[in-house]
Amino acid sequence: MRFSDKVAIVTGGGRGIGKAIAVRMAKEGAKAVVVDKNPDTLKDTVESIKKDGGQAIDIVADMTKAEDVSRMAQTTIEQFGKIDILVNNVGLFTFEPFLDTKEEEWDRLLALNLKSTLLCSQAVLKEMVKKGYGKIVNISSDAGRIGLTTMASYTAAKAGVAGLTKTLAREMARYNININCVCPGLVDTQMIADLMAFAPELKEKMIKAIPFRRLATPEDIAAAVCFFASDEANYITGQSLSVNGGQAMF
Ligand SMILES: NC(=O)c1ccc[n+]([C@@H]2O[C@H](COP(=O)([O-])OP(=O)(O)OC[C@H]3O[C@@H](n4cnc5c(N)ncnc54)[C@H](O)[C@@H]3O)[C@@H](O)[C@H]2O)c1
Repeated sequence: MRFSDKVAIVTGGGRGIGKAIAVRMAKEGAKAVVVDKNPDTLKDTVESIKKDGGQAIDIVADMTKAEDVSRMAQTTIEQFGKIDILVNNVGLFTFEPFLDTKEEEWDRLLALNLKSTLLCSQAVLKEMVKKGYGKIVNISSDAGRIGLTTMASYTAAKAGVAGLTKTLAREMARYNININCVCPGLVDTQMIADLMAFAPELKEKMIKAIPFRRLATPEDIAAAVCFFASDEANYITGQSLSVNGGQAMF
C-alpha cells in the first residue's frame, strides 16, 4: 500500500482522469479528498471509494476561486490533520481559430488550466513546507508540448503548467517536496466524447495516429500520477512525463 497514512487532494475528481486517480490512491491506502465543482459526480466518486472500503471526503469547490481553494485546504487539515499529496487535475479545452480567440475565452482557459494550479499549489505548499514533506503532480497535456492548431489558449496554459512545475520543483526541493507533471495524450473521457459528438470521423483518425491504436484509459494516466505521488519517486522532481501510447516522443 504505497499511500497508507497519506492524505491526498485530487481536484476535478468527479469524473474522468481525476476520478481514476482518486480511486487508485484510495485503493492504495490514501485518505482521498475529492474536489469538484459538480456535486453530483463528486458524490459518485466518493461513494465508489467507500464501497470498496476506502476513505474519502468530498468538497464542492471551484478551483479558479481563491476563497474556495483556501476552504479546500482548511477543510482537509480539519478533517485529516495534514496534506501529503496534491493532484492538480482540473482543466478544460476548447477549439477556436487563433484569429477569432476572444480575450474572455483566453482568460477562462488560463484560469481553469493554469491559475487553478497556482492557487491550489500555494494553498497546500504552506502546509507541506511546515511538515517538510509533500508531492504535487500537475496534469498538463501533450498538446502543450507540441502545440495544436485552434488550441492556442489551452496549449499556452498547459505549457505554463509544465513551466510552473519546473520552477516550483527547484524552489521546493529544499523542503523535501517533489513537483512533477504528467502530460496525457488522448484519453477516453467525457471531454473527448463531447468532442467526438461534434466530429465523429475524427476518432478513427486520431486512433490511427497512436502507435498502440487505442486511446488511453483514465487508469493509464492514474498509474503514472500515482508513481510520481509515491515515495518511489523521491529523487525525481521538475519532470514532465508524456503518457500518450507513443504518439509523440520527447
Ligand atoms: N481527456 C483527454 O484526452 C486529456 C488529454 C490531455 C490532458 N487532459 C487533462 O486532464 C485533466 C482531466 O481531463 P478529463 O478528460 O478527465 O476532464 P473531464 O472534463 O472529464 O473532468 C474534469 C472534471 O473537473 C471538474 N471541474 C472543471 N472545472 C472545475 C473547477 N473550476 N473547479 C473544480 N472542478 C472543476 C469537472 O466538473 C469534471 O468533473 C484536464 O486538466 C485536462 O486538460 C485530458
